[in-house]
Amino acid sequence: MSDDNLKIGLLGLGTVGRGVYRIITGNSESIKRKIGAGIEVKRILVRDTAKDRGLDLNPAVFTTNPEDIISDPEIRIVVEVMGGLEPTLDYVVRALKNGKSVVTANKDMIASHGKMLFEIAEANNADLLFEASVAGGIPIIRPLKQCLAGNRLSQIIGIVNGTTNYMLTKMTREGSDFNEALQEAQSLGYAEADPTADIGGFDAARKLAILASIAFNSRVLPDDIYVEGITKITAADIAYASELNYIVKLLAIAKETEAGIEARVHPSLIPLDHPLAAVNDVYNAIYVSGDAVGDTMFYGRGAGEMPTASAVTADIMDAARDLLRNVQGIISCTCFEEKPVKSMQEVACKYYVRLQVADKPGVLASIAYAFGDKDVSLASVLQKQTDLATAEIVVVTHTVREGNMQDALKIINHLSSVSAVSNVIRVEGE
Ligand code: NAP
Ligand code: HSE
Repeated sequence: MSDDNLKIGLLGLGTVGRGVYRIITGNSESIKRKIGAGIEVKRILVRDTAKDRGLDLNPAVFTTNPEDIISDPEIRIVVEVMGGLEPTLDYVVRALKNGKSVVTANKDMIASHGKMLFEIAEANNADLLFEASVAGGIPIIRPLKQCLAGNRLSQIIGIVNGTTNYMLTKMTREGSDFNEALQEAQSLGYAEADPTADIGGFDAARKLAILASIAFNSRVLPDDIYVEGITKITAADIAYASELNYIVKLLAIAKETEAGIEARVHPSLIPLDHPLAAVNDVYNAIYVSGDAVGDTMFYGRGAGEMPTASAVTADIMDAARDLLRNVQGIISCTCFEEKPVKSMQEVACKYYVRLQVADKPGVLASIAYAFGDKDVSLASVLQKQTDLATAEIVVVTHTVREGNMQDALKIINHLSSVSAVSNVIRVEGE
C-alpha cells in the first residue's frame, strides 16, 4: 500500500466490520477513483485477536488496545462497528477530540448521545457520520438531511425492524403463532438470542429517535417515544385484520403537529393498499411526506453484513473526501429548534378493539354506550360466535384521542358482560 492512502482504523470486526473490510478491499480501485485516494485499514480493534475472521489479513493489524487507533496520528477516520455504549462512547468521544472523523453504525449511541457527540465533532472540525444506524443499507439519513432539506416534513412512518417484520409476515402468510415465528426468526439469525429489543419495539424506537430528530430539526430522545412491541399480536388479530382489508405491521411513526411532535412505535393495522403493506420479510421501508416532494418511500435491506457495510463504506468515503478537501461534512447536527413531544394521551388515531362478551341481549348496546359516552365513534362492528354463550366482537373506531379511548376501555373492562378486552391495535395510514 502506498503512503498516499488515507488510513482508517476499525473498532470491531464482527458482522458489519467484516463487510466493510470486504467492500474496501474488493472495490478498492473504484473507491480510489471516486474519492481521489486509496483507503487503507491500518489497525482493527477486537476482543480476541486469535479468532479466525475468514479474511486475508495480516495478524499485525489486530489490536486489543484502543489507543492504537484513537491516538494514532496517522489514522484519520475511526470506524466504530463494535456496538453498545460501554466502552464505545468513550472511544468515540476521544477519537473526535483527537480530531478524527468518526463513522458509526451505532443507533443506541447516536439516539441517546447524538447531541453531545455532534458538539464535540463540530468543536474539533471532525465529521460524525451514521447512515448505517437506521435501516442498515437503506439511504435515509442523507436523503433527510440533504435531498429533502428544502421540504417541511410532516411525517415519517417506518418499518425499521427486520426481525419483527419477518415474524409478522410469517404470521400473516402462514398463520403461525407468535412463538413459532420468533423461533424461526432466531434460527435464521434475524432475532438476537435475547430478542427483547426487537419484539419489544425498543430497537425501532432508537431508530425513530434519530429519524424524528433530523426530520423535525428538534432532538427527540428514545425516552420521549411511546413504545409498544408485538408480543400481544395473535394469529386471530392478523386474521381479523385481513378480513377488514388491513395488515398488521410494527410501525415507527413520527408526525409534526401544531401541538408538538408525535413519536411512537406500536403495532398498527394499515390498509392493504398502503405502500408499506407490501414491505415483507426482513425488508425495511421508510415512508416520508414533505410539503414540496409529497410522499416518498425508501425501501431495502435494513440489516445484515453487506447491506449495512454498504452504508458504512459510503460514510467512510464521504469523510475521506472531506478530509482530502479540508472541510467539515455538510450533514452535521440540524437540531436547531426545541419542539415539545406530545404525550400519548393527546395523540389521535383510529383503533381496532377485540372483545370477548356474553352473547345476550343488550351487550352490544352497553359497549356502544360506553364508547359513545367518551366520544368514541364506531366505524364498523364485526361479531362472531365463539361458543353458545360467548361472542367475539371486533370494533373499528373513527379517529379519537387516545385519552378518550383509554377512558372508554376502562369502563368496558368493568362491564359484567365483557369477559376480556383481548386486544387493542391502532389503525394508521388511511
Ligand atoms: P458484532 O458482530 O457483535 O461485532 C462486534 C465486534 O466488535 C467484534 O469484532 C468484537 O470483537 C468487537 N468488540 C465488541 N466489544 C469490544 C470491546 N469492548 N473491545 C474490543 N472489541 C470489541 O456486531 P455487528 O453486528 O457487526 O454490529 C456492529 C454495530 O453495527 C452495532 O452498533 C450494531 O447495532 C450496528 N448494526 C448492525 C447491523 C447488523 O445487521 N449486524 C445492522 C445495522 C447496524 P471480537 O470479534 O473479538 O469478539
Ligand atoms: N435487530 C435489527 C432488526 C437489526 O431486526 O432490524 C439491527 O438494527
